[in-house]
Amino acid sequence: MPVIPPDVAPDVHPAWLPPEAFRAVGSRHTLVSGDGPLVDTVFGEVERACAGHGGAVRRATDEPDARPADLVLALTPALPAADRRPDDVREPIAASDTDPDAVPAAQVDLDAVRAAHVDLAGAALGAEGFALTRHGQVTVVLADAPAGLLYGLFQVVRLGEAAFGPECPVRVHRPALGRRMLDHWDNVDPHPVMGQVERGYAGGSIFWRDGRPRRDRARARAYARLLAACGVNAVAVNNVNVHATEARLLTDRLDDVAEIADELRPYAIRVHLSVTFAAPVVLDGLPTADPLDDAVRTWWAEATRRVYARIPDFGGYLVKADSEGQPGPFSYGRDHADGANLLAEALAPYGGVVHWRAFVYNHRQDWRDRSTDRARAAFDHFAPLDGRFRDNVILQVKHGPMDFQAREPVSPVIAAMPGTRLAVEFQVTQEYTGQQRHVCYLAPWWSEVLRYRPWGDGGRSVADVAADGGDLVAVSNVGDDRFWTGHPLAQANLYAFGRLAWEPGLTPEAVLDEWIDLTFDPARSTGPALLRRTLHEVMDDSWRTYERYTAPLGVGFMVRPGHHYGPDVDGYEYTPWGTYHFADRDGLGVDRTRATGTGFTGQYPPPWSQVYESLDECPDELLLFFHHVPYDHVLHSGKTVIQHIYDSHFDGVREVEETVGRWQRLAGLIDPDVHARVTERLTEQLRCAREWRDQVNAYFHRKSGTPDAHHRPLH
Ligand code: GCU
Repeated sequence: MPVIPPDVAPDVHPAWLPPEAFRAVGSRHTLVSGDGPLVDTVFGEVERACAGHGGAVRRATDEPDARPADLVLALTPALPAADRRPDDVREPIAASDTDPDAVPAAQVDLDAVRAAHVDLAGAALGAEGFALTRHGQVTVVLADAPAGLLYGLFQVVRLGEAAFGPECPVRVHRPALGRRMLDHWDNVDPHPVMGQVERGYAGGSIFWRDGRPRRDRARARAYARLLAACGVNAVAVNNVNVHATEARLLTDRLDDVAEIADELRPYAIRVHLSVTFAAPVVLDGLPTADPLDDAVRTWWAEATRRVYARIPDFGGYLVKADSEGQPGPFSYGRDHADGANLLAEALAPYGGVVHWRAFVYNHRQDWRDRSTDRARAAFDHFAPLDGRFRDNVILQVKHGPMDFQAREPVSPVIAAMPGTRLAVEFQVTQEYTGQQRHVCYLAPWWSEVLRYRPWGDGGRSVADVAADGGDLVAVSNVGDDRFWTGHPLAQANLYAFGRLAWEPGLTPEAVLDEWIDLTFDPARSTGPALLRRTLHEVMDDSWRTYERYTAPLGVGFMVRPGHHYGPDVDGYEYTPWGTYHFADRDGLGVDRTRATGTGFTGQYPPPWSQVYESLDECPDELLLFFHHVPYDHVLHSGKTVIQHIYDSHFDGVREVEETVGRWQRLAGLIDPDVHARVTERLTEQLRCAREWRDQVNAYFHRKSGTPDAHHRPLH
């Protein structure tokens, strides 16, 4: 039974899977070989594409049609036995020797598959990998397992006509990261302050509404399809802050989770659940949630057994414990290894994992106390526990030591726990990067993090550490908005997250090109070169532009407390949250050195422990994260800190003004709805960027008394 691709409401934007994206596949003849639900999905996708574009698709078991296939998607276990043997030595029939009129179609197909398989030389493709080749007139995708066939199909879609060009040797694609996961901070009950989606900037939740499951099956299915097409394979369906109603998803409301799992499964996406550590107490009235208590262990074992009885492919639990008011093992005098292992033990019999977040810090800090440093907290809590976690615990670490600012150093925890599986957590939702009102393409930022080498040149990268038994995870930016992400250009962030998790070495520009080709169909545009150039101009550097007009040189925050949008330089300065800039009349920045500060630099291995410690060596963009300096401190750029603040804020706003002008050029070249929505958002971005510029510049002018060297208005 083919799985029928979902029909969402007509006003919902197709994101990177518009019907045109399937033109190359859908206008050809395709053969699908293999069985199973995911193969049915592949067949359904191709069938839908063919209905729109005039091609044809058949399964290997059908009568061969009159002509050989242009595209063969085959599971290796479905191949005839001789073609499956890695040591197969039979000479393939080269397609150039083959006269398609004289040879039966099935024979041509088989020959192409055989050739591909011989080229593969026995290489294992794994649970999600695939091999792609073009042999003669046939493009062949081989996979050992059905998920690989699905990813292979979407690779062919991405390539478009290029997949059907000249011959090319077999290329094996395997994901670098085994789990590529999105965390939804969606609440079942709207939270009085945070709403339906915590830090959500794209409307309501696609899963939940007003305390009930949303049951928009087509939307959930369409979401799964978009995620599969960029490589995501796991989704946590509720907020890490687990409130009363959400806690019950684990037990009496498990059916609601199962319904979502049913919609995501046809696209190879497993469902995970955020749970509260206090579940035995709040759900069943146990006197304690102590992780070493036998009754508590039995409770989790039984709850987990019921979860798997209902959702056999359930992924596991996600836990925020002892953090920002969430309960955790500290209440019982236990540590986080005790806590995580409790849940891991319950999940182990079923192959489930627990994602245990390392975002643990004192959010009731006294701002007068300069020795407590929030940046230190995750390392201080977790590094001593390395080696104590069960092997189905994945410690989920925010990529920076603070909280998803536009600029932070990489978290030192990533280098500190060789005996622990780690997930690196990104934030696709733009909490601190413009809240999907500002264009801010985040792939360059993530790419920098993934390429960072904690042990210096020649050492392993963050991507290598995460790939070694760990995951890449991100907070989703999706809601029930008709463009999915509020800002249509924020779709690119979601797409890029999946692609970088699959292949961290991809360049942000290349990922953007893929996204442009799929989303905007440049082939049909009257100005494809202008379209592509403009989108790159608008997006490639937009993260750095955002950085320029917001908090300077890595110091972070300066946002409005609570909702975190727009400037408020002192908004967090005298609060308990641990996020300070310490500006006075002489200078600003946080002294995190070992010599005179909080000692945070000592959490890094060399060479970074030394680089960050040294005022001379510390990179400009992180200077104020690590050092408190006078306003006339001279940066590597040759500018003083105060002049850099003025200049970067004027530059950032000018860049937004240019973006507004560039965007106008696309009127008439793209979908008018997309154009209008982005235009509206750019108006707000420009207003907000000017506000940032003027508040930050005025603030530091007043503090420092230093005039702008270029005599611009500072207010
Ligand atoms: C940030 C965010 C919160 C969120 C928290 C987390 O602090 O503002 O809304 O709950 O991160 O990652 O758990």
